[in-house]
Order: sequence, then C-alpha cells, then structure tokens
Amino acid sequence: MARRWKKFASIITLAVIALVTLGITFTIGWRPIIGAKQRALTDRKFEATSQRLARGEYLVNGVLGCFGCHTDPDWSKPGAPPAAGREGSGHVWSDQMMPWLIAPNITSDKETGVGGWSDDTLARAIREGIGHDGRALFPIMPYPNYRWMSDEDLASVIVYLRITPPVRNEMATTKIPFPLNRFIQAVPEPVTAPVPALDQSTPVARGAYLVRMASCDDCHTPQENGQRIPGMHFAGGYLLYEPKGPVASANITPAPSGIGYYNEATFVRALREGKVGARPLHASMPWYFYGKMTDDDLKSIFAYLQTVKPVRHQLDNAEPPTYCRLCKQRHGMGATN
Ligand code: HEC
Ligand code: HEC
Repeated sequence: MARRWKKFASIITLAVIALVTLGITFTIGWRPIIGAKQRALTDRKFEATSQRLARGEYLVNGVLGCFGCHTDPDWSKPGAPPAAGREGSGHVWSDQMMPWLIAPNITSDKETGVGGWSDDTLARAIREGIGHDGRALFPIMPYPNYRWMSDEDLASVIVYLRITPPVRNEMATTKIPFPLNRFIQAVPEPVTAPVPALDQSTPVARGAYLVRMASCDDCHTPQENGQRIPGMHFAGGYLLYEPKGPVASANITPAPSGIGYYNEATFVRALREGKVGARPLHASMPWYFYGKMTDDDLKSIFAYLQTVKPVRHQLDNAEPPTYCRLCKQRHGMGATN
C-alpha cells in the first residue's frame, strides 16, 4: 500500500514539476530566474574621427536627448534644459515617482562617470541594456529602441561622450524593487550582427529611424501595468510629472483629435520652439533637444507620423483632468473619449 502511494506521489511530483516548467516557459519565461541574456565584452575600440565627433554631438544633443534624462532639469528656463555645467552628471527619478531609479553620471569623469569604462562596456549598455556591473538596466533607459542604432551612430555617440566635460558627481546605483527587478531581466537582448546605416531612401524610412531613436513612442503611447495599450500607438495619454503637476502626452497620430490639422511648418515649429500657434508646449515634451535637429530630419519625422494609424483620442492639458476610458488615465477632455 505504502509503496503504491510513494509511486503515486512521485508521479504527481513529476507532473507538477512538468507543469510548472511549462508554465514558466510559456508565461514569464526563465529570464527572471536565470538572469538576463548577455554577451561577453570585447576589446573593440571606436576611432575618434572628426566625422564621428560631429555626428555624435548632433545625435546626443538632438534626437537622442541623452542629457535630458541624465541631468537634473532646470525648470526655471523654457524647455527645462539640463542644468548648465552639469550636462550628463546624473539624475534621480524621484520627480517621476521612481525614487529608486538613477540615471547615472555619463560624463567623461574617470571616477564618478564613464571615463574609466571601455568602449564596448558603453556599447553594450546603450544598445543591449547590460550595465557596466552586468545587471539588466531598467528599460526607461531606451535600449530597446537603441538596439536599432546603426553601428556607425553608436560609435559616434561613444566617441562624443568621451569628450564631454567631466563632472564629478557620485551617484547611488538603481535598486529596482522586487519582483520588477526579476521581470525586466527578460528585456535585454545581445546585438550580435552588424547594424547597417539608416535607410535614407525615403523621408518616411528616415523618419521611422529617427522616431525610434527619439523614443517618441515611449512617451506618446499610453501604458497599463507597464504594457503599451494595444491600438493606442502614438495616441497620447502617458503621464509625466512636472513641478506644477502631471501633464499628459499628446495624440500625435494623423487623426482630427491628433495632429491631423498640422502642416509641415506647424510641426517643425512645435519641435523646434515648443510652440503650436500661440500655445507653448510643456517642457516634458523634449523639444529643447529635438529642436536642434535639421529641418530635413524634422520633416522626415513628420512624414513618418503621417503614415501611422489615426486614433481618435481627445486630450487637452489646459482642461481639468477627468477619467479617460481609452488610456485609463485622468487628463483634460478624458471624459469625452
Ligand atoms: C528616457 C531617459 C533616458 C534617455 C533618453 C537615456 N538614458 Fe541612459 N539611462 C537612463 C536610466 C534611468 C538609466 C539607469 C537604468 C538602471 O540603472 O537600471 C540609464 C542608464 C544608462 C547607462 C548605464 C550605466 C551603467 O550602469 O552601466 C548608460 C551608459 C547610459 N544610460 C547612457 C545613455 C546614453 C549615451 C544615452 C543617449 C544615447 C542615454 N543613456 C539616454 C535613462 C535614459
Ligand atoms: C519624455 C516624453 C516625451 C517624448 C520622448 C516625446 N514627447 Fe511629444 N509630448 C510630450 C508631452 C507631455 C506633450 C504634451 C505637451 C503639452 O500639452 O503641453 C507632447 C506634445 C507633443 C506635440 C504637440 C501636440 C499638440 O499639438 O498638442 C507634438 C507634435 C509632439 N509631442 C511630438 C513628438 C515627437 C515627434 C516625438 C519624438 C521625436 C515626441 N513628441 C517625443 C512628451 C514627450
């Protein structure tokens, strides 16, 4: 009798193990348990050519806006630029309700910045989401977008970072709360094949690349439980926190409730000066950086945005916030959706 029970119990145990194994494989996957995918570092070095320095400066201070996240903003100035003389010296995300998230010092300072890190350590962090200490980076650092950064653009960014003025500023390290720290281990992906230069054959193709590099989608697509809401790409409603209160991102699809009424000139001015007609845009919209792009690049972005699916979603940050059933947030005109 006891023998039969033992056999039965071991069959049950095996079945449970099999089920749990399958369950993990098809739900959260194994990464939360075994750690993020990562490749070994190489000793590659990016040569500092004048072309790369110029391109790196253009990218970092324009479309990529690295210092927008990696510096304390100066809210007393239009567009809340990085605090002068502190560019890249790091920023704690307590202002966005994430006090545990720390965008580190990425200036060339040897001790408190990235001055002592190898080129490939930086390359792997930027495009593949593995920090210098081997941990998975929180994907607010837009490495899932930077995966598509061409090898040449990546080299340019790193070559330029090397010559940014060093700022001594010791920052603590991010401590992502459990279980989030486990789940995000599924996000990093090694880049093992060459990433060719951007397709410049049409403004739309060029715009698609720039929109990805600028992470427009990260702010302009609303999220529920950390996931983008399906069917709401570029439709706005993601909340950003400013000293004067929350601001919802705008609908930038070509719908009438989006930017369907814009022409190219309206768009270029919005991104260059942060103004739509007489209406100034909140500084959470990083026009301070995007405004440094060439007209051609901005026009390409507009061309691309015209090809995204129009979504009806009314928003207005000048109106009192009400609940919106589409983006599940409270924002001006929310109740009209
Ligand atoms: C939207 C905000 C944002 C932008 C834009 C951004 N970063 Fe980050 N970055 C972060 C945050 C937040 C972290 C910290 C993540 C963590 O600790 O888990 C980070 C981490 C990093 C790290 C990892 C450091 C380490 O610990 O190994 C590097 C390097 C870095 N960023 C460089 C850049 C560069 C270069 C750019 C521009 C190409 C850039 N970042 C753009 C927010 C941003
Ligand atoms: C860090 C978050 C963030 C990122 C990244 C971002 N935006 Fe915005 N954007 C906002 C917010 C917030 C607003 C709303 C500002 C307001 O209502 O004053 C906005 C407003 C706009 C507007 C004005 C719409 C209108 O008429 O009210 C346009 C156009 C726009 N964004 C385009 C873009 C494009 C294109 C990109 C990428 C190149 C981009 N944004 C990236 C946060 C962001």
